[in-house]
Amino acid sequence: MNFEYLMPTRIINKKGVSSNIGYYAKDYHLKHVLIISDKGVEKAGLLTNIYSSLYDYQIEYETFYDVKPNPRDTDCNRIASEFNNKPIDAIIAIGGGSVIDTAKAVSILCTNQGVIKDYEGMSLAEKPPLPILCIPTTAGTGSEVTCWSVITDTTNHYKMGIGDYRIIPKLALLDVELTQSLPAPVAASTGLDALTHAIEAYTCQIANPITDGLALHAIKLIKENLAEAVNNRNEEARENMLIASLMAGIAFGNADTAGVHCISEAIGGKYDTPHGVANAVFLPYMFHHNMEANFKRHAEVGFALGVDSDKSVEEAANETVEILLRLNQKFHIPLFKELENVDQSDFQQLAETAVQSSSNPNNAKEMTVSDYVKVLEKAYRNSLNLNTDSK
Ligand SMILES: [Fe+2]
Repeated sequence: MNFEYLMPTRIINKKGVSSNIGYYAKDYHLKHVLIISDKGVEKAGLLTNIYSSLYDYQIEYETFYDVKPNPRDTDCNRIASEFNNKPIDAIIAIGGGSVIDTAKAVSILCTNQGVIKDYEGMSLAEKPPLPILCIPTTAGTGSEVTCWSVITDTTNHYKMGIGDYRIIPKLALLDVELTQSLPAPVAASTGLDALTHAIEAYTCQIANPITDGLALHAIKLIKENLAEAVNNRNEEARENMLIASLMAGIAFGNADTAGVHCISEAIGGKYDTPHGVANAVFLPYMFHHNMEANFKRHAEVGFALGVDSDKSVEEAANETVEILLRLNQKFHIPLFKELENVDQSDFQQLAETAVQSSSNPNNAKEMTVSDYVKVLEKAYRNSLNLNTDSK
């Protein structure tokens, strides 16, 4: 049982804490920051308190709030070239995963030469990236506590993984007030992304006892709070979802994601499908494909989701697939064949992209190109024969 665990992010969970960002920036001796965000956050008025707090603490700031979903390499390169002649000493990211991942990419490019494609892989930046302080406004990404930035290669239409332990944010402020305006479909799909992180962290081949504890508790919190957070915007439920998302982020950041993310990132790179939706679509199918590799672990996911503990591990794992399918129906997640632009003639290429993901070797079950094609076809036909068809 050899493992490594790293969690350098200072985490503060407190309602209203984001309005005090200037205090924390001062605490890190920052003088001039770049705020990266998106138009939704800006339109919701969530940046106003950030600006005034920085002003109160006499911290100069630049702003960029035009990050798009599924962030693109071209945008990261453009932001860095626009701001890297300014004396910026840190980046404040306020938004969902796309914003935080963009901030991570820009943090590398602000101190290193070249374009973001040059840093695809692990720890390729020569100079330390700019420090990042972040304020997540969705409960799903976990990017506030991970060393990964996922950026779309717009030339080759796939998602690159840029990893570096120095891009793990220094500070994550969890402020439930910022999730109040999140539209229900976004709250649902990002919440299911967090569930996917927790399940993949628990069932992948490099799970460890610390990530297991985080992942199982995250699954339990998501089971208990996702519906209330989505349907009723209940404040306690939204806060619990922020915590669940963060715990799932620490779990997969120290274990890994697996086959669901391998497929969903291929899908996102090809069709621009929102990340949380793509994960939710494939989670039941990949879980079903994987469960025979370790029925016990897959059953334990089910027990955390409320499956009766008297069930055999095989029965519990099968019942978990049904729970995951029902969750997708409940939160109006489309079927695979309903996603925009999906074409069966792309399956071979999507499978080839999926198998090249750095997370593929850590999937519970070995996955070849033809295995991914099978999962894609089953998801497209919306056909699972539970109990008998786990191959
Ligand atoms: Fe994810």
